[in-house]
Amino acid sequence: LPSELFNMLANAGQIADELGCKAYCVGGFVRDLIMKVKNFDVDLVVEGDGIALARALGENLGGKVRVHERFRTAVVSLAGGYKIDVATARTEFYEFPAALPMVERSSVKEDMYRRDFTINALALQLNADNFGALIDYFGGRRDIENRYIRILYNLSFIEDPTRILRAIRFEQRYQFTIEPDTLRFAIDAIERRLLGKLSYKRILTELILILNEADPVPALFRMRDIGVWKYIFPEIRLERLDPDTLRRIPVLLSWWQSMFMDRPIKSWLVYLQFCFAAISVEEEETVVERYGMERTARRVIAEAREVADILRVIENESAITPGRLDRLLKGFADETMCYLLLNLHDVDKWLLVERYLEERDQARLEINGRDLKALGIIPGPQYKEIMDELHELKLDGVINGRRDEIDRLKMWIEEGRVVTQ
Ligand code: CTP
Repeated sequence: LPSELFNMLANAGQIADELGCKAYCVGGFVRDLIMKVKNFDVDLVVEGDGIALARALGENLGGKVRVHERFRTAVVSLAGGYKIDVATARTEFYEFPAALPMVERSSVKEDMYRRDFTINALALQLNADNFGALIDYFGGRRDIENRYIRILYNLSFIEDPTRILRAIRFEQRYQFTIEPDTLRFAIDAIERRLLGKLSYKRILTELILILNEADPVPALFRMRDIGVWKYIFPEIRLERLDPDTLRRIPVLLSWWQSMFMDRPIKSWLVYLQFCFAAISVEEEETVVERYGMERTARRVIAEAREVADILRVIENESAITPGRLDRLLKGFADETMCYLLLNLHDVDKWLLVERYLEERDQARLEINGRDLKALGIIPGPQYKEIMDELHELKLDGVINGRRDEIDRLKMWIEEGRVVTQ
């Protein structure tokens, strides 16, 4: 662990001692620590007053503390970008399947017991006299060694059907196997249509988590084989999608992330753009509506339908310039750019688009609206057209620098191409 994080954990242990309570790190953080997977999302569980511990920790380390009295939880944000979630140990009672849990105070064992899988039900004690001791009531460490995803109790999937999707996500992420009894319970829950008890919003959240994994493709096929896919996207037949293109998506996305680090994209949307290409516009609308997707997501998904026409132009025009590409591609989301590259098979054109994407942000104009106004150009929609055209000329290397930009404007004024006062 980075020393900052290690010291923070030790500090939390000391505070717990002072407060006369017990504190533990829990969940994914412990799992990943044992597996030597980088994960700095720390979750703490406190047997006692979690909020008091969070406040003291924030004070000691100069961090910000946000408290949710109602849930007896707090978040401590530290300078290095670390975020520590602090919870008070509790038991959750589920009133009926798939309902939101009710909260009651209890011990760390109860807290572990309500968790999804043994590998996520591990805790590390932080109190000084026991610092680093592993609390493993359910054989999580053994399951990590044997690479199993295993539920803690038979009703786990019934109480929380999102766990079916979580099981698949963890299984594929770590190349584990869903343990046979667990798999049986999952399939049983699916056959009893328990996913139908979840809101679409919760299903979408889980699906997004799967699609945002480094390589979600095997998880999609696993979803199909276990019988989940047909409940989520009955419209989309996975076997009809081109497998080679599908497998290229994660490669393309990681290329994008290394090329354009300052322009993060929503990977899940690129997968959806690809999947939705296999269904009709009407079916797409039904799906988007069903999942109540937000506006930006809808826009990005819809944009993909325009890509085929743009590709035809790019592939057919022999001498296509960056300025021309700008005209074709401006305004589209980066996800759509990825989707376009995924479907662009001409290597030279690929390189052209790649160079255009690299250069378009650098090719900033040096003049702005004020300069246009000073030249007497009447403000209005023509400002955007003028700036767009200048930007294209700049991308093509026809003009370079403020002087050229002003000269070009003067030329257009003389030609009467722009309206002046
Ligand atoms: N959890 C659970 N059931 C769920 C969701 C979460 O039992 N439906 C528990 C698990 O113990 C999990 C912890 O809550 O470890 C935190 O959940 P989350 O942050 O979603 O998972 P992580 O394990 O941290 O996974 P990731 O690495 O994907 O962040």
